[in-house]
Amino acid sequence: MSQKLQPVRGTQDILPEEFAKHRHVIDTARRVGALYGFKEMATPIFEFTEVFKRTLGETSDVVNKEMYTFEDKGGESITLRPEFTAGIARAFISGGLQEKLPIKYFSTGPLFRYERPQKGRYRQFHQINFEWLGNADPLADVELILMAADILEDLGILSKTKLNLNSLGDQETRQNYRAALVKYFSEHKNGLSEDSKVRLDKNPLRILDSKDEGDKKIVQNAPLMGEYYSAAAKAFFETVTARLKDSIYGDRVVINPKIVRGLDYYSHTVFEFIAESDELGSQNTVLAGGRYDGLIKTMGGPETPAVGFAAGIERLALMVHNTPASIAPVAIIPMGEAEVVEALKLASSLRHGGIAVEFIAGGNVGKAMKKADKAGAKHALILGSNELNNGKVVHKDLATGQQNEVSRAPETLIPILKK
Ligand code: HAM
Repeated sequence: MSQKLQPVRGTQDILPEEFAKHRHVIDTARRVGALYGFKEMATPIFEFTEVFKRTLGETSDVVNKEMYTFEDKGGESITLRPEFTAGIARAFISGGLQEKLPIKYFSTGPLFRYERPQKGRYRQFHQINFEWLGNADPLADVELILMAADILEDLGILSKTKLNLNSLGDQETRQNYRAALVKYFSEHKNGLSEDSKVRLDKNPLRILDSKDEGDKKIVQNAPLMGEYYSAAAKAFFETVTARLKDSIYGDRVVINPKIVRGLDYYSHTVFEFIAESDELGSQNTVLAGGRYDGLIKTMGGPETPAVGFAAGIERLALMVHNTPASIAPVAIIPMGEAEVVEALKLASSLRHGGIAVEFIAGGNVGKAMKKADKAGAKHALILGSNELNNGKVVHKDLATGQQNEVSRAPETLIPILKK
């Protein structure tokens, strides 16, 4: 087959069985989110490149290596969104939504990153995403993380994860910590990778996240952020930690100073729910986020505190094993041409009554029954010449083979089928 007839590397078709899992994840997130006051909204799938470039961090892998950026026919630089947060911050600013604060937004849809594909990591993937704008209180972080845990719990996977929690401090913390890192890494500059030498000038914090083996060795003895927290940052993190440890999910909480996140806009709380089961292989972060109080101001908007998270739907789907059963249809089988019109009317009235119908015409009864079985039907309604005239239909239970004649009137038939 021509290569062009394959899906592009890192993309995949989502067939019904897999889609049922995606839908279950999205429905659960939407339902739990609504219980916390989140409203659904959508931003465009592509934005001006600027929206992502400065905000996510010019030294981040996402901006440096992974964005799908192209020039459109009007000469504008456009980027397929690699994440939701920057686009939603843009929508907040360009829509003049300040009056609506506090805002709680839920979104879902596809994202694009030119990454090396492997299990749980794709070039087109999907997220459920939550953003809470306009609340600076540490309890907002706590509530948001509890909501994330509720979603994982409802999906039946919370017990397979740990909540890794860290704080990146406030501006004062980061200025002091940055100075300490620059000093330390400058002393070890010769051992750093080329990427990290660039990061040393632009964003030394990023070196802590480096995958390079040489960098990792140097990072082992680097100064720790915890020693540089300002009093305010320390108090903020202590509140978040204490409230979470006291919550019903307290046993899931782990303080992990290594969580620094791959995007630049975070401050204070950062967190990742990391899978402990081996269903995900090395891509084991299922849900991640944090506070980003500086982002909207950096983009030219009003100073607006914010906190949010996203979870990869493909990764959640790999861990979900209890999707709700799909609705079994009722098979409607007209015995011949003469019965087709009445059978179609019957199908319409049942569908209007909320019953799924698989309409099976043509062929003999044996073949029709096989088709009904393949469609997952548990019951069949068979319409022959006798029934055509007496207002009835043969109702057959496909599991037991039992059958009897019942009225075709929807008010009689629908309650029987619903039972
Ligand atoms: P992120 O850590 O880049 O954060 O992505 C969040 C989650 O999306 C990851 O934990 C993972 O489950 C999933 N994910 C990321 N990349 C891929 C990929 N290539 N293939 C499959 N799944 C992937 C953000 O995107 C932030 N915008 C989250 C946030 C919202 N922070 C504040 N608000």
